[in-house]
Amino acid sequence: MLIKIAKPSDLRESDVTPESVYLSRRRFMGGLAGVGAGLALAGRAQAAASDYQDVPAGSPPAWFVSKLENAEWDSVVPADRQLDKLTPFEDATHYNNFYEFGTGKGDPARNADSLETQPWSVVIDGEVANGGRFDLEDIAKPSRLQERIYRLRCVEAWSMVIPWLGIPLGDVIKRAEPTSKAKYVKFETLVAPDQMPGQDSSFALIDWPYTEGLRMDEAMHPLAILGLGMYGRELPNQNGAPFRLIVPWKYGFKSIKSIVRISLVEEQPVNSWQAIAPDEYGFYANVNPEVDHPRWSQATERRLPNSLFNPNIIDTRMFNGYADEVASLYQGMDLRKNF
Ligand code: MTE
Repeated sequence: MLIKIAKPSDLRESDVTPESVYLSRRRFMGGLAGVGAGLALAGRAQAAASDYQDVPAGSPPAWFVSKLENAEWDSVVPADRQLDKLTPFEDATHYNNFYEFGTGKGDPARNADSLETQPWSVVIDGEVANGGRFDLEDIAKPSRLQERIYRLRCVEAWSMVIPWLGIPLGDVIKRAEPTSKAKYVKFETLVAPDQMPGQDSSFALIDWPYTEGLRMDEAMHPLAILGLGMYGRELPNQNGAPFRLIVPWKYGFKSIKSIVRISLVEEQPVNSWQAIAPDEYGFYANVNPEVDHPRWSQATERRLPNSLFNPNIIDTRMFNGYADEVASLYQGMDLRKNF
């Protein structure tokens, strides 16, 4: 489903993207439309190199390249014209949280090359009629790739604006045919200490696998996507290749990376950060400027890139600015208790 929400605050790609980048992308898409089916695979992979400026080409699998050719590039997403500018690719890929590769912000970019993402399979199990182990290609095949420009607000009070490429999570869940007992969706990241050096270290405190969860109605919400790419290309390893969750109205830790298992379950799962510090990190983790973290305020955020002389502090918005779309999911709930 393409999200087209007609409000004055709607944001088009041309609103957030510097004109030169936007125009170069339109030219690129025009060129790509002419790519003939008989072109050699190497040439097609080359053509799929991102059209965003200063974005290095990746090495996507052939199936991802053909999905790119058919992608829906102009999804309209709600955001604010004044406040939101795309975060440069360099910042979005070198300031990361991915504890499987270390706890420092630069560790994932430094260490994640060791992750093998092709081939990749995902187990879908639990309360479903149509479960099993599936190649990522087959999970993605029936859905059209869509670009969604979303804000990402970390619980640590920094934020970015990222053009993701993904498919609706709800599509994947529907195809698994959940039973009436399926009340929550649980996600798990790969465990492979030989590829993920952080899993051999005791610094992270995480009891692997990194685990996350959503209530069923949250998972079915059209804003929730499974991300396969960003900035017009496949996901870099440090951003959760080849397959991650993106739930833009929640703190970034809900957006679990490098997923290998999706389980439909009856009981509310315990997510990794909740297991480590239940007083600080809850299950819902909805962005909420009125409920502070016990150790810092959540009223404002540092929009990256920033510097000592330009701290770039902006007000945090309820549900990260997506209240019109998602607030009804939490009607009647005490958001101080269910933080
Ligand atoms: N997923 C896994 N498997 N491991 C992690 O450490 N960190 C989370 C989330 N997903 C994390 C993860 C946190 S805290 C944030 S803020 C986002 O990923 C950061 O995503 P980004 O690095 O692409 O900006």
